[in-house]
Amino acid sequence: MRMYDIIMKKRNGGDLTKEEINFFIEGYTKGEIPDYQVSALMMAIYFKKMNTRETAELTQAMVESGEIMDLRSIHGIKVDKHSTGGVGDTTTLIVGPIVAAAGVPVAKMSGRGLGHTGGTIDKLESFAGFQVDIPIEKFIGNVNEIGIALAGQTANLAPADKKLYALRDVTATVDNLSLIAGSIMSKKIASGADAIVLDVKTGSGAFMKTEDDSFALARAMVDIGTHTKRNTIAVVTDMDQPLGYAIGNALEVKEAIDVLNGKGPEDLRELCLTLASQMLVLGEKAETDADARVILEEIIESGKGLQKFADFVEAQGGDPEWVKNPNLLPTAKTEIPVLARQSGVVESIEAESVGIAALLLGAGRETKASEIDLAVGILLKKKIGDPVEAGEALAVLHVNDEAKVEEATARLLKAYGIAESADAPKLIKGIVRSNETIKL
Ligand code: URA
Ligand code: CA
Repeated sequence: MRMYDIIMKKRNGGDLTKEEINFFIEGYTKGEIPDYQVSALMMAIYFKKMNTRETAELTQAMVESGEIMDLRSIHGIKVDKHSTGGVGDTTTLIVGPIVAAAGVPVAKMSGRGLGHTGGTIDKLESFAGFQVDIPIEKFIGNVNEIGIALAGQTANLAPADKKLYALRDVTATVDNLSLIAGSIMSKKIASGADAIVLDVKTGSGAFMKTEDDSFALARAMVDIGTHTKRNTIAVVTDMDQPLGYAIGNALEVKEAIDVLNGKGPEDLRELCLTLASQMLVLGEKAETDADARVILEEIIESGKGLQKFADFVEAQGGDPEWVKNPNLLPTAKTEIPVLARQSGVVESIEAESVGIAALLLGAGRETKASEIDLAVGILLKKKIGDPVEAGEALAVLHVNDEAKVEEATARLLKAYGIAESADAPKLIKGIVRSNETIKL
């Protein structure tokens, strides 16, 4: 087999066979096929696309390019959740414990934040002593004992995807549905998931800006799940503004604890209940979404979800007392309000700019090596649809180092669009299952 022939076949609009896909993924992972040939193939795929079968076979080849987590010794159906990325998205910290409390094992691999998006691992490190580098035996043991464990991604998970993603990033070939869907799903499958619930974001702060593109990505990922025998459901949700009010590590942990206490922002609670309900259905702990919701609401009201979160924090080296008393979490020295310049109704909040403002304050990493300040960030006071008077606070900056306050304030003011009237956006846009697409 020759790489040249594979490139030409795709360039001319042909469908690649499983053998051809395995050949280039294996060869590229081993360093036997050069970047320039794979770049040409990526561009051919970008223009000529891949069908559902090719996409699933590409995904499976990337899964098999490295280590596959063996979680068979965990009892029950392992249901993973993945969000396509957002700002202030704290759902894992809430969904994990409530799903675990309902009896679905949560064995989660997570990442750190880079750029304007946050990472679950960074947020959890707000608990002094929290360990993410735990041995696999302890990871599995914790899931079997308390129902939940979280670890950083191992280096050798889907290495073909790592190489391809880096190459696509510099060759203008990232935004092809098959390539994005395969990239995301390969990491979930290699992490050992039996079933997957996807939160596909849509809007100004998301990877996919339009609803049509977001539903198409959701469909591509669900189809991969069907082909690889992983029951997969995708929920398409709004990212036209940050989720909840908190952006920043410890601030988001406190917000998650609020939700586990039966309080917290309505949008964050609603999204968590929606995603967790799907996980209960896939994990066979509830027949329908509605049954699942009843179970999950009881778990929150009774405090079982909060207790599960405390057990989880303790099992990985944090102090569970901090869950009961979140004031013990890192807190910034100063709070500086950002005041509205004009009166009206909030019409838009550019999530990416809010994320960058939080990054400027030290809540995120500019490069992989940057240190982050867990205490700092932003608490929004106004969301889309809220009336505001000139001079009223739109948001409050939580600050330790005042050097970048001016720049962060300017960013935040620019992020807010104020109009005469506006309505809050619908949070849940629809749901995609193997056999149906429901637009709400
Ligand atoms: N996220 C991924 O992991 N891969 C992509 O290709 C795009 C977004
Ligand atoms: Ca938030």
